[in-house]
Amino acid sequence: MAVGMRRVSAISQSDATQKVSDSHRSRHVARPRCRSAKLARVSAAETFHALVGDLEYPMFIVTAQAGDERLGCLVGFATQMSIDPPRFAVCLSHSNRTYRRARDAQVLGVHCVPAHARELAELFGGETTDEVDKFARAAWHDGPHGVPILDECPNWFVGRVVWRCDAGDHDAFLLEPVDGGSGDGGEFTFHRAKRIDPGHEA
Ligand SMILES: Cc1cc2nc3c(=O)[nH]c(=O)nc-3n(C[C@H](O)[C@H](O)[C@H](O)COP(=O)(O)O)c2cc1C
Repeated sequence: MAVGMRRVSAISQSDATQKVSDSHRSRHVARPRCRSAKLARVSAAETFHALVGDLEYPMFIVTAQAGDERLGCLVGFATQMSIDPPRFAVCLSHSNRTYRRARDAQVLGVHCVPAHARELAELFGGETTDEVDKFARAAWHDGPHGVPILDECPNWFVGRVVWRCDAGDHDAFLLEPVDGGSGDGGEFTFHRAKRIDPGHEA
């Protein structure tokens, strides 16, 4: 085991033990499985999960239109990838309806979740369109290229999918922004979002 890895493991040992009893049931939330605080052997994957589980970052809601169906889910795996040309990547879990129905979409909507929008985050992260119509419970309007835009999110963009890649249990979608809106709102972040039970396991 590399020296650097041992250091991270030692720092995260008590956190890792804490997280075992955590009620979060998604692989979007770190779930290392240390059986004992005395157990020194921590795998690279467990170390990685403990590490990324402590990171803080903004949450997004990705929306899409597929035929007559409107889709959307809460997303934490998302980041800017390029400045010029502007590019942004979002990752959709293979188990989510949003992915299953919209994986061939030409465009996706990406919404920054505002700090106050806990209920919206719970709706899009804790419910699945396999069971409920999320868009019947949230205010939205038709946006560019027919993508549904959530009224509660002043910061959003619509991106054309320029590339898609199987990244494991998620696909990564590389987006070229084609339209958007901006305003105030702050950020609803991962450490608040991870209290939500996801509509689907990753
Ligand atoms: C903290 C948190 C982070 C999440 N991150 C992602 C993500 O990056 N990608 C993804 O596809 N789903 C992610 N999810 C899960 C989906 O938002 C969730 O399973 C949703 O209910 C799926 O809805 P759908 O089946 O209607 O698409 C996350 C959920 C939570 C609580």
